[in-house]
Amino acid sequence: MIIFWSFAENEDDPVRPSPPSHREGRKRQKHFAGKWNPFGDEMKRLIVGISGATGAIYGIRLLEILAKSDVETHLVITEAAQKTIVLETEWSVKKVKSLAKAVYDIQDIGADIASGSFRSEGMVIIPCSIKSLSAIANSFNVNLLIRAADVTLKERKNLVLVVRETPLHRGHLNLMLRVTEMGATLLPPVPAFYFLPKTVDDLINHTVGKVLDLFGIDHHLFERWGSQKLKDSLKKKGVKN
Ligand SMILES: Cc1cc2nc3c(=O)[nH]c(=O)nc-3n(C[C@H](O)[C@H](O)[C@H](O)COP(=O)(O)O)c2cc1C
Repeated sequence: MIIFWSFAENEDDPVRPSPPSHREGRKRQKHFAGKWNPFGDEMKRLIVGISGATGAIYGIRLLEILAKSDVETHLVITEAAQKTIVLETEWSVKKVKSLAKAVYDIQDIGADIASGSFRSEGMVIIPCSIKSLSAIANSFNVNLLIRAADVTLKERKNLVLVVRETPLHRGHLNLMLRVTEMGATLLPPVPAFYFLPKTVDDLINHTVGKVLDLFGIDHHLFERWGSQKLKDSLKKKGVKN
């Protein structure tokens, strides 16, 4: 049996429910019931892109986790990613799509997420290929994934790119610098080992947890440095830090 969230305090609930902003939203909804409400009561939305770099499982895990939260996921998958999903995982593309609240066709450049008026916390491309990185760096809005990323940047929202390639040449590094200067955050899937991972799932959850951190979504996907649990396990090993 694969243990997905080995460090979770409650394994049925890797993401804590109802961040305060949503509770506030519901309170407001009650307050304005039946009256004109000048405020929106939309749920937190995240645009999730999956492109054709290796590591489709990172995107799938993020969708799996957010499906259990009150964050709405709006998903776009590239043609190459449809291939990697099938090549690298036990998932079908259909099943991956069923994890999201809304799914958009990669060629549908008129979709909701193609517009700056779409309300969201931002966008993550997980994993992000060098090709998609390059298109974003050049605002070459060739498909909905790139258009949505470009819009996210122009609206000054959070764009997180889980770029996966190795080794890297100067051209790759220049593209990374360029998107960083444009406002994106690069989060390559680079594992950490200080939290004493035991399984590949632990490593996947670590990267996904780092993504959630960047959107302020609370989770228990990995043990944080300085936590009592880590201190205790180091103590058990007789290690002082
Ligand atoms: C199994 C597999 C693994 C791949 N891994 C990577 C990778 O790690 N990084 C990358 O940039 N491209 C990778 N590629 C190549 C991309 O899929 C290819 O460049 C594609 O055109 C990207 O298109 P997209 O950005 O529209 O998804 C991989 C392709 C396959 C089939």
